[in-house]
Amino acid sequence: MTPPLPRHSRITGTGSFLPPNRVSNAQLAASLGADGIETSDAWIVERTGIRFRHFAEATVTCSDLGVEAARRALAAADCDPQAIDLIIVATSTPDMVFPSAACMVQEKLGVHGCAAFDVQAVCSGFVYALSVADSMIKTGLASKALVIGSEVFSRILDFKDRTTCVLFGDGAGAVVLEASDTPGILATELHADGRHVGILCVPGTVSGGKVLGDPLLKMDGPAVFKLAVSVLDSVARSVLAKADRSEADVDWLIPHQANIRIMQSTAKKLKLAPEKLIATVDRHGNTSAASIPLALDEAVREGRIKRGDTVMLEGVGGGFTWGAALFDL
Ligand code: ACO
Repeated sequence: MTPPLPRHSRITGTGSFLPPNRVSNAQLAASLGADGIETSDAWIVERTGIRFRHFAEATVTCSDLGVEAARRALAAADCDPQAIDLIIVATSTPDMVFPSAACMVQEKLGVHGCAAFDVQAVCSGFVYALSVADSMIKTGLASKALVIGSEVFSRILDFKDRTTCVLFGDGAGAVVLEASDTPGILATELHADGRHVGILCVPGTVSGGKVLGDPLLKMDGPAVFKLAVSVLDSVARSVLAKADRSEADVDWLIPHQANIRIMQSTAKKLKLAPEKLIATVDRHGNTSAASIPLALDEAVREGRIKRGDTVMLEGVGGGFTWGAALFDL
């Protein structure tokens, strides 16, 4: 008997959405200054590359942003929402403790019955979610997946802590991932090291009708910086080896958009030309699990990333978590 042909998964559409309120460094510095917090456009640009971020209105939730990105990805893929049989939302800022933001996106799309769940791996969330969807498609558990990264990080920022509140923004990105006869996703790799829980966390939790502990983001920036630079290099090399490709095969690198210095150092270590690095951190800030699909969608819509190009995604974030995905678009 002829063995069945291997089943592949391929990205067929991308989409993204940013809340309209765009805040410049100067605007943020002025509003923080009113509370006695000193920062400046010059410090933020020099240390991070960030110039703007978007903040959602207080009533706008993770699933509100996520569903807008999903609608755009579905339209780009020319995919009927009713055909979707899996929805995964990567987020650390879901609408509520439960149900998942994915169930809310499903309801807002008006598609009922398919599997829907959230993945929580902080800024590595989209790479984790894409890897899970890829595995589910390859094993026949799903055929058409919506993979979304959506965050309202403004809700968990401490606007009295200048070392963190200037870094993050809100937004969402999404892809449609479909079963295919030809390879799209070539390899993925995921890692975590729980010894580093304390360097990047929101330590509070809900208990007995109250928030116990601090519900705002804490980060040891220099410690995260050092770890990020080292794991992004090693995971890039191992995902390339898994896919039997080399650095020279990479047309585009989309690392998690946290800090331009980390991103440029990653591209340099991989000997990639600077123009192969997709960077949106200057205009979006760090949107955690949304940063990679937002950057991917922007580059696809600008016509920079084209069908057939080989793209590497790299996530890194709280946990400590990290991972990479290599695909042909
Ligand atoms: N404005 C002005 N000065 C500031 C600000 C600010 N917003 N923030 C810090 N400073 C000061 C500090 O107080 C310090 O002053 P001192 O020298 O008098 O003590 C000085 O600037 C230098 O501070 P550092 O923390 O050493 O600055 P660094 O160059 O390390 O940059 C940063 C900090 C941007 C946070 C960097 O460490 C970084 O990007 N870390 C990695 C973040 C990251 O990659 N996160 C990814 C995952 S995110 C997630 O998973 C949610």
